[in-house]
Amino acid sequence: MVKLDELRTRAAGCTNCDLYRDATQTVFGVGRPGARLMLVGEQPGHDEDLEGEPFVGPAGRLLDGALRDAGIDRAEAYVTNVVKHFKFKRTGKRRIHQTPTTREVKACLPWFLGELEAIRPEVVTTLGGTAAKALLGPSFRVTHHRGEVLEYAGLPLVATIHPSAVLRIPDRAARAEALEGLVTDLRLAAKVAADV
Ligand code: URA
Repeated sequence: MVKLDELRTRAAGCTNCDLYRDATQTVFGVGRPGARLMLVGEQPGHDEDLEGEPFVGPAGRLLDGALRDAGIDRAEAYVTNVVKHFKFKRTGKRRIHQTPTTREVKACLPWFLGELEAIRPEVVTTLGGTAAKALLGPSFRVTHHRGEVLEYAGLPLVATIHPSAVLRIPDRAARAEALEGLVTDLRLAAKVAADV
């Protein structure tokens, strides 16, 4: 089995697709081997690209709160993304997030599979459509499978929404409702991890 540190070092020099050209750095997963819960997002954003760690920007702060509300200690989870480089379009000084293509996701997937093998979590939780489709196929719809315990690579998988999707909801009540849904899904993942 390849060690996590070795994978991280190799991923730092990844040129499997063109995203490395404009991104600052590879953003590999963070957490301890043996973590029971593995959280998988789409790709690093602006802050993550600069800091080199997943979910440290606004979406990460929302995720931190949701994890706390679900009774999950983030330090006990492994947090990563299916795509390890920030894909963006420059408009003036701003860097605007772009959804990765299927080809870019596929090119990056071996790193995730290596992480999965090294961590061996009890449950995988995908955050948002890109991560869920990467693992469960292009026709997968998160909204159709909320609250279900699915399966990926012989492991239980809980698919939930992306924290950024919550942040984008302008209406306060609707945003609170979406956040509650995210917390409910995370509670389910925690329960599965505890029960296994
Ligand atoms: N969105 C993601 O999907 N991952 C991050 O690390 C940050 C924002």
